[in-house]
Amino acid sequence: MFAGSKPVVVVGSINTDLVAHADRLPLKGETITGNSFHTFQGGKGANQAVAAAKLGAKAIMVGKVGSDSFGAESIRQLTASGVDCTHIAVEPCDSGIAVITVGTGGQNTIVVIPGANAAVTPAFIEANRDVIKTAGMVLAQLEIPMESVLRLGQICHEEDVPLMLDPAPARELPGELLSLCSWITPNETEAQFYARGTADDAHSKSSSAVAAALLKTGTHGVVLKLGELGAYIEQTGGSAFQIPSFKVAAVDSTAAGDTFNGAFAAALSAGRDVEWSGRFGSAAAAISVTRMGAQASMPKADEVMALLSGQSDVKL
Ligand SMILES: Nc1ncnc2c1ncn2[C@@H]1O[C@H](COP(=O)(O)OP(=O)(O)OP(=O)(O)O)[C@@H](O)[C@H]1O
Ligand SMILES: [Mg+2]
Repeated sequence: MFAGSKPVVVVGSINTDLVAHADRLPLKGETITGNSFHTFQGGKGANQAVAAAKLGAKAIMVGKVGSDSFGAESIRQLTASGVDCTHIAVEPCDSGIAVITVGTGGQNTIVVIPGANAAVTPAFIEANRDVIKTAGMVLAQLEIPMESVLRLGQICHEEDVPLMLDPAPARELPGELLSLCSWITPNETEAQFYARGTADDAHSKSSSAVAAALLKTGTHGVVLKLGELGAYIEQTGGSAFQIPSFKVAAVDSTAAGDTFNGAFAAALSAGRDVEWSGRFGSAAAAISVTRMGAQASMPKADEVMALLSGQSDVKL
């Protein structure tokens, strides 16, 4: 389905999540015995690359890992998922890590160490211009330095390749950045964050009002990711689409947004229209919430096509 399409090039973060489960969170200064420990591959950049690759799209990751065993394992697992890792550099530092403790009932504490992701500099982005310009769609998020995301936006503009920015986690953006984006893809809380100040009380307004406020920032297209309500898509001077969600038995929504982005970008890169690509993204994300985990929950293209054609085992 994606054969012959231009690649999806993801410029972003690569993390390892270290998750310890215990009956409760330890108190300050306390050591407790936990119940289980799991290691997961993560980072919004790596997640979006895996989402596209598992669907069968050509996905190229541009980023950095550290010179520790976590970095080597990230590259091994990304490669196993089908991601082209030849543009991942190994930096003489720690890899990006999230140390997560989870108590019974789900309360957690999280410490994120950006590690090598902080070394994804504007100069590194520039050094990868040749691969960036081959993209059918470039994907970025906000887990690398902001000046690097801005440089990426300028390069995409100069090379005339479309940039889809997932503006997450929500951060103040340099004014120029949004006008360099073909798409921004906030979830509900991120949309409120970026729409503030551009419209009177965007909070609680309709999706079309929030999208209109965001389009005034200069981006050419907006995807509002609305969780179990699906997505709302609008482009400057173009049409607007309410993309329904697929009714599924949700067990873990981790990385649903990343799955949507990888799938939406893969479909657009393959020349599909915006509405079809939105439905493809919504179906891929819906399948991902029926399974535990982030990268492990992401579907293959035939599963998504089965859901789209109503022939899936997923309960509708
Ligand atoms: N419970 C659900 N049922 C069906 N589809 C869902 C559900 N939750 C999410 N989705 C799909 O996944 C997409 C992205 O989900 P969401 O809006 O939660 O993104 P997000 O908050 O960015 O997620 P992430 O945790 O990955 O950052 C939605 O637009 C929708 O298509
Ligand atoms: Mg998100």
